[in-house]
Amino acid sequence: MKFFVDTADVTKIRALVETGFVDGVTTNPSLIASSGRPIQEVLKEICELVTGPVSAEVTATDLEGILKEGRYFAKLASNIVVKVPLTPNGLKACRQFSDEGTPVNVTLCFSAGQALLAAKAGATYISPFIGRLDDIGETGSDLIHQIMEIYSQYPHFKTQVLAASIRSALHVVEVARMGVHVATMPPKILHQLYQHPLTDKGLTDFLADWEKTGQSILPA
Ligand code: G3P
Repeated sequence: MKFFVDTADVTKIRALVETGFVDGVTTNPSLIASSGRPIQEVLKEICELVTGPVSAEVTATDLEGILKEGRYFAKLASNIVVKVPLTPNGLKACRQFSDEGTPVNVTLCFSAGQALLAAKAGATYISPFIGRLDDIGETGSDLIHQIMEIYSQYPHFKTQVLAASIRSALHVVEVARMGVHVATMPPKILHQLYQHPLTDKGLTDFLADWEKTGQSILPA
């Protein structure tokens, strides 16, 4: 299972890369907007920091516009993945990019039927948004389960399931249990994965007991 970080904050990405847990990065127009920086500059910096795939999302909605923006992104760096919305034009562009050898992340997936279309259009990744489904009273992880089940019936589908809109460490564990290929998470969720109160308490107790011995592990 791969871990992508869902952010356009280069400082946070740089710090997380040092953990060794960043396999890639996903961005979207809202994340670029919150960085307050030009998209071209941000994407180039991210692509230099991370060797894995970096998703860059188009904002055009017409086919020609999506193709132009996607081809532009693809020239920025060799690890760019063009991110397109799950619309008829987005999927037409997906087919074309895929035929040209450009990897594509199909985003804004909220149903298994949509995920089926993305796989048939040759998507490299499908991004079901689990948190946003939870927000409207559905169970986002059920969608991941359905997509994993469907894709497993058709071994010729090469599309990887990229669980997106992850809001908690529990979401990460839930989708990992289903065998998703990738989870993309905000930096704070990656930090949360480390945490357990019993780890902190256990370490404090071990160190206190060790201190009492007066010993040191390394010879003086
Ligand atoms: O990048 C797509 C997705 O992960 C967005 O998540 O939290 O805005 O629903 P969120």
